[in-house]
Amino acid sequence: MRQPLVAGNWKMHGSRAENAALVRSLLDQLQPGPGTEVLLCPPFVYLSDVARLLTDSAVALGGQSVCDEPQGAFTGEVSAAMLKDVGCSYVLVGHSERRQLYGEGDALVARKFVAVQSQGLVPVLCVGETLEEREAGHTTEVVARQLDAVLAVSGAAALASAVIAYEPVWAIGTGRTASPEQAQDVHAMIRDKVAALDATIGGSVRILYGGSVKASNARELFAMPDIDGGLVGGASLKADEFAQICAAAD
Ligand code: PGA
Repeated sequence: MRQPLVAGNWKMHGSRAENAALVRSLLDQLQPGPGTEVLLCPPFVYLSDVARLLTDSAVALGGQSVCDEPQGAFTGEVSAAMLKDVGCSYVLVGHSERRQLYGEGDALVARKFVAVQSQGLVPVLCVGETLEEREAGHTTEVVARQLDAVLAVSGAAALASAVIAYEPVWAIGTGRTASPEQAQDVHAMIRDKVAALDATIGGSVRILYGGSVKASNARELFAMPDIDGGLVGGASLKADEFAQICAAAD
């Protein structure tokens, strides 16, 4: 039995005042029940603030990205140890916006994955194809390549303490969601690929879907057998809607 996880990726949104209002409202409404784990990933500068707001709640805190190096002359970067120090337990790695807008390739993403685990934090490894890749019939190949880059460095055992997020690039922030069947196909492929290396980990690794998850489509997505929750961008900025998405995962 895999515990559902719903993660809110705030991206570069918010302010101290807006975050406080959002978190307070969310905590008021959150009825995750016994089952669903909830995670918030605010921008780096607000992590400490949000950690304070989450004190005594069951909601976890995560970084949106991380440096692959442990420390040193890397201006503008934030290490996994720093994220841990301010209260994070999860870190997104390889989000498509990092891959596409900041040139992060598979090898760098794999090093970040290792850096996160070296601090005992849980990486949320994001994978997914672009529209061109899907239309060319390359979805499986692209997602497999992104996974293989991490498996080559970390081995399948590392996935026992990781989360995978399938986020088709064409569905992120576009309002265009993958159908539950389209998402399920890729999730099943990912699970089969991991299970071929280690059946136990294949059965237990949580695979989230991301890309225009909303209160109106969450339930049917989360009902699919290999979808274990969501990585939610835009809809995580609205407390009511995000709380409904969390409830849908239960
Ligand atoms: P979206 O973003 O929900 O706004 O599509 C998802 C993500 O980028 O993680």
